[in-house]
Amino acid sequence: MKKIAMLAVLGLFVWACGSDADNSTADKPASKPKSMLADQAADSGGEVVVGKIKEVQLNDPLDPDMVERGRAIYEMKCAACHKLTDQRVVGPGFKGVTERRSPVWIMNMITDPDAMLEKDPVAQQLLKECLVRMPNQNLTEQDARDVLEFMFYNDGKPVAEK
Ligand code: HEC
Repeated sequence: MKKIAMLAVLGLFVWACGSDADNSTADKPASKPKSMLADQAADSGGEVVVGKIKEVQLNDPLDPDMVERGRAIYEMKCAACHKLTDQRVVGPGFKGVTERRSPVWIMNMITDPDAMLEKDPVAQQLLKECLVRMPNQNLTEQDARDVLEFMFYNDGKPVAEK
């Protein structure tokens, strides 16, 4: 009986890293409607923002040039560890990431993972599950913003016509 419980816990543990449904560790309630230009403090669930970036301006619809730049950066610097599905490789898959994390959180995780892993409880929980530290990929804030645009695209947000 005890063994079964252990297995269940273990299963949950592995699942949590690869799934886009880890609402227990998400920094905002999943049910909260997402308004594209909503005030970012509320969007990060009222939590203290750990990283340097405090606010992100979003596009609705998405900017196609930013999506393309973001895709190129993703392929060069992120694809080795992150799939575009919800499947985990080294880090969590990117599917649904824009729903489970706030834009500000994502931008800070991309530009300064060390600060996030040191102080942010959600990032620390991910590290516990993935067992590998996300490396700093030396992206500028604009690079990270392009990757964020690509993440929204990957999550099905509409893109403006060129
Ligand atoms: C060497 C592997 C590796 C590379 C390369 C990498 N990451 Fe990560 N990433 C991770 C790991 C592992 C985590 C989970 C947190 C941790 O353990 O540090 C993570 C977490 C994340 C998260 C949080 C995901 C979530 O579900 O909340 C985001 C966003 C992210 N990475 C973005 C990126 C971007 C963008 C790039 C490319 C510029 C990148 N990562 C490159 C390993 C990597």
